[in-house]
Amino acid sequence: MTRFAVTTFGCQMNEHDSDRLTTVLARANGEAVQDPADADVIVLNTCSVREKAEHKLRSEVGRLSLLKRQRPDLTVVVAGCMAQQEGDKILKSMPAVDIVIGPDNIVELPELIAQVRLGGPPVVRTVFDVDAPQFLTAPVVADGRATAYITTMKGCNERCSFCVVPYTRGPERYRPSDQIVDEIVRRVETGVREVTLLGQTVNSYRDPLGLLSPAPNASPDDPDESEFAALIRAIAARVPDLLRIRYVSPHPRHLTPSLMLAHRELSVMPRHVHLPVQSGSNRMLKRMIRRHTREEYIDRVARLRQSVPGITVSTDIIVGFCGETDEDFEQTLSLVEEVGHTGLFGFKYSVRPNTPARKMDDDVPESVKSERLQRLFALSERLLGQHLRGLVGSRQKVLVEGPSKTNPNNATGRSEHNEIVHIERAEHVEMVGSIVEVEIVEPFKHSLLGRLTQEAEARLPRRSVEPSRRKLPLLGPKS
Ligand code: 5AD
Repeated sequence: MTRFAVTTFGCQMNEHDSDRLTTVLARANGEAVQDPADADVIVLNTCSVREKAEHKLRSEVGRLSLLKRQRPDLTVVVAGCMAQQEGDKILKSMPAVDIVIGPDNIVELPELIAQVRLGGPPVVRTVFDVDAPQFLTAPVVADGRATAYITTMKGCNERCSFCVVPYTRGPERYRPSDQIVDEIVRRVETGVREVTLLGQTVNSYRDPLGLLSPAPNASPDDPDESEFAALIRAIAARVPDLLRIRYVSPHPRHLTPSLMLAHRELSVMPRHVHLPVQSGSNRMLKRMIRRHTREEYIDRVARLRQSVPGITVSTDIIVGFCGETDEDFEQTLSLVEEVGHTGLFGFKYSVRPNTPARKMDDDVPESVKSERLQRLFALSERLLGQHLRGLVGSRQKVLVEGPSKTNPNNATGRSEHNEIVHIERAEHVEMVGSIVEVEIVEPFKHSLLGRLTQEAEARLPRRSVEPSRRKLPLLGPKS
């Protein structure tokens, strides 16, 4: 029995890959341990989207090389995007590493570990499964969670000039729609009530099996049209107990009328979308090869809001991209203000290997990048603060996820608009996985405090059966 520990860096996609790494190793007679110090095999599942992530890996491997001096039998694996990107360069620059394995080669890991532990040389496996794409899934177990991530595709066909993903995750490959729906059905059987569909450009989805009926409002002649709305409709129809379908991350180009209509018509669609824009300056958007303008982004959001009044929008922004002037940056601030984003992830541009932008001059000084990021965050806090304050006294439908981290007497969950809502003195065990109606009583900096409405309180089941043995109740209305 090999004891292994997996450490994850980076995005949800990586968290997901770590679950699959764990499954593959456990099936090969491995035993997962929490503390890497107890492990025979340590897997570092890496990210390379920004330079910072790369630094984290280097310092982690530095620490492991000390451990390896004491325990030469320790096997160190570098998996994920850095592995794909750097390949054998990792073995050269980090001699403590034994195996480098890309995201598409996870199934091969037990075999490679066996070879290395029998005295074989260090190995690198970073081959994309372009001809026969595989979508491994972790086993579906009831873990008490009401939310789950579901892979719909991998890779990316966009060529945003700053982004390393096409080189670390390969071209787009879509998971067959029946597999996606089947996984969701099984997850819902274990108590999951909200899924987040995952993909690099999730709304470019097309079913490789052609099983989906076209969605209403789909325009086949539009090159930006996809089958994403059709996929959402198929999930909603086949899994009636599912309460919410979220998705990350869409590309603004594929936010087509068919998807807007799905948002409008399906009660399972929340009133929020995370829609990365990256910059508000057309000059920058062009250099970034985003394939949309500032005006097109604003127009899409306006049309979405016409379709779904009150829908909230969050975004990703890069500051200090090559050649970004004060004027360009002001355009970004004005776009965020105009759209009124209620959530924002902001990043300082960092040069990534293999990307088209690597050939441009990374000419914005670090101090300017930091200052711009501070200004962007200040604006974002102001917009979020205004938004949260405006919700006091309103009623919100909250999907309860579990106890509040800061106060275990409270429950916590997310509203339809994606605000984090803490529910006062709520018996969270009773409510996990259900949508309850809450009246908002107080805004915090990044979240809200609410109280169950009398109607919601009256609907709560009595405490008669032991909580762990009870099936998850389905309480409130569907959205
Ligand atoms: N530098 C800084 N931020 C980046 N992102 C992607 N590539 C880079 C880079 N080279 C950001 C984008 C993307 C998010 C996941 O990471 O905003 O949407």
